[in-house]
Amino acid sequence: MPNVSQVSHVSVEDLAPWSEEQVQAHLAAGKLVEGLQHMSPKYLEGMRRILTVSADTEFVSAPSYLRAAQHAPALNNFGSAMSIIQDELAHAHIGYRLLGDLGVDMDRLIYERPAEEFKYPYAFDLPLDSWVELVCANALYDQAGFVLLSDVHRHSTFGPWKRALAKVDKEETFHLRHGRTWVKKLCREPDGRAAVQAAVDWMFILTLEWFGLPDERKHHGIQLEYGFKGLGNDELRQEWMRAVVPFLEEVGIDVPAHHDPEADVYVIDCPFPARFDPERKAWDLSAGAVGWDEVLARWKARGPMNRDYVERLQRGYRTTSLR
Ligand SMILES: [Fe+2]
Ligand SMILES: [Fe+2]
Repeated sequence: MPNVSQVSHVSVEDLAPWSEEQVQAHLAAGKLVEGLQHMSPKYLEGMRRILTVSADTEFVSAPSYLRAAQHAPALNNFGSAMSIIQDELAHAHIGYRLLGDLGVDMDRLIYERPAEEFKYPYAFDLPLDSWVELVCANALYDQAGFVLLSDVHRHSTFGPWKRALAKVDKEETFHLRHGRTWVKKLCREPDGRAAVQAAVDWMFILTLEWFGLPDERKHHGIQLEYGFKGLGNDELRQEWMRAVVPFLEEVGIDVPAHHDPEADVYVIDCPFPARFDPERKAWDLSAGAVGWDEVLARWKARGPMNRDYVERLQRGYRTTSLR
């Protein structure tokens, strides 16, 4: 992800004074990294990368949820959705402000970066077209965000982010509860359950993808090595299934995964990774499992809403900026 280090005018070598050995010794002594003064160039680049993915994900969830909130069945439901959107913008703000502290030019990163260079999960490139899809996103996507951020909260070695996540975690809990309460309610009626099932059919596998490449193919070993997070991608994917599969089964929704009690792991029952048609929001499972290279090419090309959402987020800056 070269763009993140390019958005600063000063090189990471000039900003981060420590050697790798000094960082390792600091961490081995049980201390947290409190700022640039405790970073090596490698630590700084890795921390910028993970913070950018996190802030971009929070940021883009706002226009995605806002578009769907217009389908709210009543004004008070619209209000709940708006309060979730407000939280997400605050979460994005935390991430971008920390990136600013790490020498990144925030205006350029947030408002001048081309849409295709944003680093959020592909799932948010698909439109949420109904209230049902919005609450399913709260139950599935916000659960994914919660799993990832709780892991960072527990294991991160970067003090300012670790502390900020105490608040973020609590708010994400509210988002996924909002999703679950609605999913439960909808599933009491056959029509509601069918609508939830149709949403889960395309969203479940997209959220499995959210956790990224299997650990044996993963590029960012530094994230574990330097204690940016604690669990690998496959373990995080398991954590997410452990949270959502029993819940969805309980409300009568079929998912392509089951619990293997002997090994105490969740097993994915459909071809994975799989081919996806973004226009139809449907999986072509008849093609069988595809290679991760095909998935990576789809992610890189971005999906249908990418430009629209980023344009919405950047519009005010372009129309009101004095520069
Ligand atoms: Fe969030
Ligand atoms: Fe959220």
